Amino acid sequence: MRKCIVTGGAGFIGSALVRKLLAQGDTSVEVVDNLLTGHARNLEEVRDRIVFHEIDIRHYAPLAAAIHGADTVYHLAAIPSVPRSIREPVPSHEVNLDGSFNVFHACVQGKVRRVVYAASSSAYGDTDVLPKEETMAPRPKSPYAAQKLMGEYYASTFHTCFGLDAVALRFFNVYGERQDPGSPYSGVISLFMRAAIERRNPTIFGDGEHSRDFTYVDDVVGLCMKAAAASNVGGQVYNAGNGNRYTLNELWRLLQTIEGVDLPAKFEPAREGDVRDSQADITAATRDLGHNPQYTFEQGLRRTLAWYRTQF
Ligand code: UD1
Repeated sequence: MRKCIVTGGAGFIGSALVRKLLAQGDTSVEVVDNLLTGHARNLEEVRDRIVFHEIDIRHYAPLAAAIHGADTVYHLAAIPSVPRSIREPVPSHEVNLDGSFNVFHACVQGKVRRVVYAASSSAYGDTDVLPKEETMAPRPKSPYAAQKLMGEYYASTFHTCFGLDAVALRFFNVYGERQDPGSPYSGVISLFMRAAIERRNPTIFGDGEHSRDFTYVDDVVGLCMKAAAASNVGGQVYNAGNGNRYTLNELWRLLQTIEGVDLPAKFEPAREGDVRDSQADITAATRDLGHNPQYTFEQGLRRTLAWYRTQF
């Protein structure tokens, strides 16, 4: 059986990936997570089918021991928030950058066949042109964006210098079941869904015309597995998005329609480090990885909302 490691496997994206890997059948799935932003409950019904390592990726020795001999490492562990990286830059740097260095180094030492690295669309910053293509010069606007971009550079230089077969996927605002709305740093869709279900007015930072390429978790997880299987992609970077974009005003209108509520949003000043517009060009990922998003925005929202209704 092939051993796969998912760092951040107790997070919302990581735990969805764990389920999909288990469904494949021929894989032994091991999770590395320190439960800082992830939760054991995300793995509840699959807990006896995986090996769980409660390890912080800042600690090299236990991390390297867990990774040794793996076929594939999906590196998703992070402190995933732009505003948190501004308010708490030190842990954000240590986990997202030093931690990623540790993962790549451990993968070289442990002779891992392929690494799939969760990079971020935030690396682009504000570009003059949409959609955003991988060939555009990155313009990070926050520590989080800079850390994720440096992670890409490490992945590609480890490919060049040490032969590490690492491919980076720039995730575009992923949403779906198990995304935790419990923190001010939570993803906007999880916060808006909880507000709609609990009949509260959400907060929109800015004028609501900021836009995002919201990508349903199953599509991103599917792409991670395609990236693990693809040929000749070592050192490459691909957009992992849906290819569309919706403003926050449109998102909140659509959610109100689906949920049958009328709750005007409260408006507050835009957040520091916030990118204005985000939309992926998915041509390269489609061509080289077979990316083929399956869910329209409304389909993804309806599936996700159905799950949140069971929680709140
Ligand atoms: C950024 C990255 C994304 C990355 C994520 C990690 C960009 C374009 N995207 O997401 O790829 O995976 O960090 O967390 O940089 N907002 C509100 N009200 C709220 C919460 C948020 O209006 O209550 C707004 C934010 O100001 C932002 C948008 O909603 O304009 C999305 O915010 P969020 O879901 O936190 O993600 P990003 O910071 O865009």
